[in-house]
Amino acid sequence: MSALTLSTSSAATLRADAIVVGVTKGPKGPVVASGAEAVDKAFDGKLATVLETLGATGGEGEATKLPAPSGLKAPVVLAVGLGDAPAKDEGFDHEALRRAAGTAARALTGTKKAGFALPTEDAEAAAAIAEGALLGAYSYDAARVNGKKDAQKNAPLAEIALLGTKPRDKAFKAAAERATVVCEEVNRARDLINMPPNDLHPKSFAATAQAAGKEYGLKVEVLDEKALLKGGFGGLMGVGQGSTVPPRLVRVAYTHPKAEKTLALVGKGITYDSGGISLKPAGHNETMKCDMSGAAAVFGAVVAAARLGLRVNVTGWLALAENMPSGSATRPGDVLRMYGGKTVEVLNTDAEGRLVLADALVRASEENPDAIVDVATLTGAMVLALGNRTFGVMANDDAFRTSLYEIAEEVGEPAWPMPMPAELRKSMDSPVADFANIGERMGGGLLAGVFLKEFVGEGITWAHLDIAGPAYHESAPFGYTPKGGTGSAVRTLVRLAEYTADGDLG
Ligand code: BES
Ligand code: MN
Ligand code: ZN
Repeated sequence: MSALTLSTSSAATLRADAIVVGVTKGPKGPVVASGAEAVDKAFDGKLATVLETLGATGGEGEATKLPAPSGLKAPVVLAVGLGDAPAKDEGFDHEALRRAAGTAARALTGTKKAGFALPTEDAEAAAAIAEGALLGAYSYDAARVNGKKDAQKNAPLAEIALLGTKPRDKAFKAAAERATVVCEEVNRARDLINMPPNDLHPKSFAATAQAAGKEYGLKVEVLDEKALLKGGFGGLMGVGQGSTVPPRLVRVAYTHPKAEKTLALVGKGITYDSGGISLKPAGHNETMKCDMSGAAAVFGAVVAAARLGLRVNVTGWLALAENMPSGSATRPGDVLRMYGGKTVEVLNTDAEGRLVLADALVRASEENPDAIVDVATLTGAMVLALGNRTFGVMANDDAFRTSLYEIAEEVGEPAWPMPMPAELRKSMDSPVADFANIGERMGGGLLAGVFLKEFVGEGITWAHLDIAGPAYHESAPFGYTPKGGTGSAVRTLVRLAEYTADGDLG
């Protein structure tokens, strides 16, 4: 990942390839934002006029490159739009800063070092800029991920200097360190999601978790197909039995000696979802390597909690399987016995996520954690309901659902609370099992939540994040969001772990 430094240097004297400045959208044209005073001075105070002449308005997503005047050490100035200026006594919206920094980092692909002279009122604003820049400067590089050295042609911006910050100030230092860890873990999740499914399958995902777990002092336990069969994990075995690569359940545990609370995170880890015998039609298969995004987010969040040394126990459960059609695959009509004994008639093998999650939720419940959050690319219905950028939040506890929704908002991950109407349960009745894995078509995302609820232990607070929309970004990059895996939910889970550690969640 790119390197981040805090710097007291002035934008005029910093040796870098580019200086990034912010511009807001004023009533009469672009307005240079605070932080860019030295740059504006080098333009004889005419930076806004120059930008307006070039067609800039200060709108969000805008990036305008200019040759730097002689007063600056850097050869290029990059002006990024921040949108409307904040109200008089208010600071900039952190998500606007994050996105502008991300846009800047992407526009500087191929350059080595940039100084960011964006408005940094306090450590939180600096953290937002750092996050945007570190996340925007991401690109999937197979050679890097596979540990080979070949230099990438269009390498992301390598060095990010945050100007106007205080490197020796405790709050600024902590903000920069946290941003580095969190973004490294978001980018780790993105790498896992972007890896082709012939390279990332249940076995290699489990091996990766073991290796990274060792590096960060986590306890990693892997149940292989023999252990899963013996243990009665019928959901994972049933979904994975059509593939030549068998399923895995991985438990990744971070513990703190003084922790008072334990958080369990459960991730859907379908390394490829073909639909199985209920095969997906062409056009619906091409991006289904992303169906392990929940497990990737959970893994990234547990590693982040460990690296940040949070005073909370966080246990991640990665439910890994490949959903393939074959002579050994589960048929529509088969009945599976899930971990814990409940039986499910599989009427559609493409509703596989809820089956692997059921096993993992029952197993996670056995340890009686203070709360469980599962994360899954679970339903196309949630994408129809909330679109491509917003995840749905369901829960068996109103306050917990609200907390998760608010946390997501706070960290810049769009989310929305969704209900779990009890009447949907009846449509999953089965004549041959406790229930079927599908029911009525309307409200399909909510129905999936109602199904999962059946597998959460009595009295355990639980939330379900359906990230099918935002997990994988197919259109043009924007802000700090690249094409492909986004690492959706990592930042929400890390903040949740922090609040749980601080006892701020009741
Ligand atoms: N992995 C898919 C859901 C999905 C859709 C994720 C689009 C990301 C983008 C899931 O396993 C699935 O196939 N769900 C079915 C359920 C249906 C058969 C009840 C769906 O949503 O169509
Ligand atoms: Mn499916
Ligand atoms: Zn799926």
